[in-house]
Amino acid sequence: MRSVQIRDAAPDDASAMGHLHVASWHESYAGLLPETLLADLSVAARVARWQTILDAPAARGVVAVLVADEGGGLVGLASCGSQRDATLRTAGFDGEISALYLRQAHQRRGLGRRLMRRMGAALMDRGLSTASVWVLRENVGARAFYERLGGEIVGEAIDPSGDVALVEVAYGWRDLSRLAKATSSVSADHSLTTHVANPRIATPT
Ligand SMILES: CC(C)(COP(=O)(O)OP(=O)(O)OC[C@H]1O[C@@H](n2cnc3c(N)ncnc32)[C@H](O)[C@@H]1OP(=O)(O)O)[C@@H](O)C(=O)NCCC(=O)NCCS
Repeated sequence: MRSVQIRDAAPDDASAMGHLHVASWHESYAGLLPETLLADLSVAARVARWQTILDAPAARGVVAVLVADEGGGLVGLASCGSQRDATLRTAGFDGEISALYLRQAHQRRGLGRRLMRRMGAALMDRGLSTASVWVLRENVGARAFYERLGGEIVGEAIDPSGDVALVEVAYGWRDLSRLAKATSSVSADHSLTTHVANPRIATPT
């Protein structure tokens, strides 16, 4: 298998990122999100959204946009920035992991851990010391991943707007230096604690 480089995304990655993002949603959320929602996903809209972010990340509070690059082909993407959720910000979470997606064939090879490590470092470099991430409640694989990296449940949100109410949970790290440790050695201990329940209207990023 070829080696995968984790690097900062460049503006001309937007097209590949949009395609990857939609493909990853289909792989990750089939059976978890309504079929109509997945069928309505637009690659063009995703490309445009990444282009806007990459052209002016700071304007949107984005601290880092990363890609996992295998010989020029993207197999993963991630982004983080300042906290968008007012309740979580008030609860002390100043940073946020806003997207993290790997193609299925590239999961469970340590790439997620490497991306989380880079994002934690980027947030700390920007003076942020805590972070959270939203994940679908039924996304057991991603939840196991965040729990393995020491994330604690710090919020819950329900989006009742579709035919099926979607429930998300937020994982938080109250000290990003602990995430740094957990991502350098995934065997680090962690505890899983419920702190607050947050109503939030949203679907995954
Ligand atoms: C969730 C995701 C980012 C994790 O990245 P990854 O590269 O697959 O995970 P890693 O190989 O770095 O895993 C690190 C550890 O987390 C845990 N872990 C990761 N995925 C897991 C899974 N599906 N089930 C149980 N534990 C898991 C394991 O302890 C793993 O260590 P191990 O492989 O030595 O046992 C990736 O699987 C992914 O992109 N999934 C689909 C999209 C998604 O759900 N994104 C999250 C949106 S909020």
